[in-house]
Amino acid sequence: MKLWDEEVLEAEYSCISTDARSAMLLTTPVTVLKELLEDEKSRKLYQESEELHDKIHSIIDTNSETDSSHVTRTENREVEMMNDTNKEVEQLTDDLKMLWVEKYAPKKYTELLSEEGINRSLLHWLKLWDYVVFGKNVPKPAKKSATFKKASEKDEKFKKKSQTGVTEELDKHNRPEQKIALLCGPPGLGKTTLAHIVATHAGYNVVEMNASDDRSVEVFKNKIESATQMKSVIDADPRPNCLIIDEIDGAPAPAINVLLNTIKMTDNETEAAGKKKKKQGHILLRPIICVCNDQYVPALRQLRQMALILNFSHTESCRLASRLQEVVREEMLKTDLNALLALCQKTDNDIRSCLNTLQFVRQRQKELTLQDVQSMSVGQKDTQKSLFSVWQEVFIMQKAKKNRFVSIHDLADEKQELNQSTFSPSARFQHMLHLCQSAGETERIIQGLHENYLEAKSKDPHLTGLNLANEWLCYADICSHFIAKSQDYSVMKFSSFVPIVFHFLYASYSPFRIQFPHSQFEASQKLMKSVNLLKTLFEDMPPITRKFNNHQSIVLDLLSPLLDILQPTLRPPET
Ligand SMILES: Nc1ncnc2c1ncn2[C@@H]1O[C@H](COP(=O)(O)OP(=O)(O)OP(=O)(O)O)[C@@H](O)[C@H]1O
Ligand SMILES: [Mg+2]
Repeated sequence: MKLWDEEVLEAEYSCISTDARSAMLLTTPVTVLKELLEDEKSRKLYQESEELHDKIHSIIDTNSETDSSHVTRTENREVEMMNDTNKEVEQLTDDLKMLWVEKYAPKKYTELLSEEGINRSLLHWLKLWDYVVFGKNVPKPAKKSATFKKASEKDEKFKKKSQTGVTEELDKHNRPEQKIALLCGPPGLGKTTLAHIVATHAGYNVVEMNASDDRSVEVFKNKIESATQMKSVIDADPRPNCLIIDEIDGAPAPAINVLLNTIKMTDNETEAAGKKKKKQGHILLRPIICVCNDQYVPALRQLRQMALILNFSHTESCRLASRLQEVVREEMLKTDLNALLALCQKTDNDIRSCLNTLQFVRQRQKELTLQDVQSMSVGQKDTQKSLFSVWQEVFIMQKAKKNRFVSIHDLADEKQELNQSTFSPSARFQHMLHLCQSAGETERIIQGLHENYLEAKSKDPHLTGLNLANEWLCYADICSHFIAKSQDYSVMKFSSFVPIVFHFLYASYSPFRIQFPHSQFEASQKLMKSVNLLKTLFEDMPPITRKFNNHQSIVLDLLSPLLDILQPTLRPPET
């Protein structure tokens, strides 16, 4: 019975399995399948590990064989190839790691791209220290000038100033009159690089400190002292130090005072000649070069007066572009001079920005076209433009700059379109909006518009433009009033449209002198003064008179005749 039953059951099962197959069900249970998979996986892993093991052993063997020079030629070649590829990979990773700004930074004075005049002035000033530092190149006898200096000090200074702005006169200690040099200019133009290279070129050991990092007065003082005072340590660089203080505009005022004291104290000592011989060691005997972006920071005011100020202007586009061309050739990035010039223009000739952009492009592609540059959002710095430049852009039309670099295809196809696109109202609108929003101080900007709009040249015979401008000024006024009252700053964004309206109403090609807004401040001051006077006058009135008066009636009816009575316009008696 049992046997029969089992046979039937098996038959039934087989039926079920065929049914299951037709019903797309699994013939083997999932758990079995899983086990099978696991088995296969582990088998594969084992196989792979075996292969790896074999490989490693074979490499070790070949290496040992190469050492004992028992290798066949083919094996040798294989090893060489492996070494070559390894080297290539290493070089590639090194290249990828290294920033182009470092790789292509100038190493010598002759490689500098910055303006020739500035390079030369700095070097000239540094050479004036030669007598004190190196004891060579005896300059003009300083004593001679010191004897008759006092009588016409200023005239002489004026005369002695060379074209480069360097005062060639030396003080009693044979140091230059201008004790420090201050390099200033926008970022990325190579100020720090110039300072380093010129100092090295003149034979100094460069000691750099960053004033934004070393902000504590104590650290500042120590660093200045250790760098400027001669201390011969056996292992140290035998060359004398030249201190470069980078980003000095970021230093706090007390730290700058330390530097000032170092310079000033020595001056006093020079006058007090010999009295304080002990302090002679503190005399500044080494040149200091300061680097900053903004020379008009209040903390630098005093320092500026005793410094040789070198204002960095933008590097010439063609010089920069040809340097970039060399870099590009070396890095095998296909491009043309037009694209590079456009890149220079877009980044405001910022060397650092140009190199970084090129490196970024090179990592992704092998070619850089003019269209690529034009479509890039590179160089559009979010740096705040000064208020004056905003007003200038509102009132003065920009000359066509962007279309200087046009490829031949553009010329053939869409010359007109391109021309229109930069001057199209929508482009101007977008540009102005971006400008105003990034500039921030909308209120100030509007004050400037108010101050200057009547001076702007525009054809408006029916004064419709003027009416519109006044309406918008009122609108801005209402906005700011509302903001002040409700503290709801979301309304502020609507005020940034006012300068755009003024741009479309008043922008012209003829420049005029833009004034800083002061009349509003003066007027509000005057108003406040008068209101206060009126208040005291009103309060000092006896109650019986006050009863019949109010502020308005006093202003309209009383004050002008009263002033005439108090201060009659009397003509001087004829003599
Ligand atoms: N004369 C030059 N020739 C070629 N490349 C230069 C030159 N000067 C600077 N560079 C490149 O530009 C980079 C930035 O220069 P640097 O740091 O000197 O600018 P900076 O004016 O000091 O800027 P910041 O104000 O931001 O400190 C350098 O790393 C270098 O690669
Ligand atoms: Mg710098």
